[in-house]
Amino acid sequence: MPKLNVNGKTLEYQADEGTPLLWVLREQLGLTGTKYGCGIAQCGACTVHVDGVPMRACVMPAAAIKPTQKITTIEGLSPDASHPIQRAWQALDVPQCGFCQSGMIMAAAALVKAKPNPTDKDIDEAMTNICRCGTYNRVRTAIHAAAREMAAQKKGAKPKKVAALGKEVLDITHVETKSGGAA
Ligand code: FES
Ligand code: FES
Repeated sequence: MPKLNVNGKTLEYQADEGTPLLWVLREQLGLTGTKYGCGIAQCGACTVHVDGVPMRACVMPAAAIKPTQKITTIEGLSPDASHPIQRAWQALDVPQCGFCQSGMIMAAAALVKAKPNPTDKDIDEAMTNICRCGTYNRVRTAIHAAAREMAAQKKGAKPKKVAALGKEVLDITHVETKSGGAA
């Protein structure tokens, strides 16, 4: 059986030749965080990383990916949703319906890895994902907030609490939950 390395695990799958990676992830491996939007590489809802590079899984045949290549989905971006992009998303209440947001987060995470201090132009060029709820302004603000957090942490600062991060950027008040996230 063919194999894929997904979120650090080698997994077997069975699919017809040409089956897009998206359907292997969702229907065989149970990783339903990656969404189907358009199926023609336009919306970005299906964005995953392959060896750290954002790819649109709806048009990428699973068989084209070698077992040695590392696929990361939203479920594997961080063990506890603590990636700076995920924390900034939470702090700024970016998602509305949420459908496009896994893809948005994966694209944004790849952007700040490649360009730790992205300009608005960098963000506009990298973030070609479509959001029918119109979260674009908050997506941009959250990417800047995450980039600032990452730069501060590189200099030794402790990660800010999600509530503090939201308040600092947009004056959003969060109720802290027991797990330390925001309600
Ligand atoms: S579902 Fe893949 S880009 Fe829209
Ligand atoms: S949050 Fe609804 S489509 Fe983007």
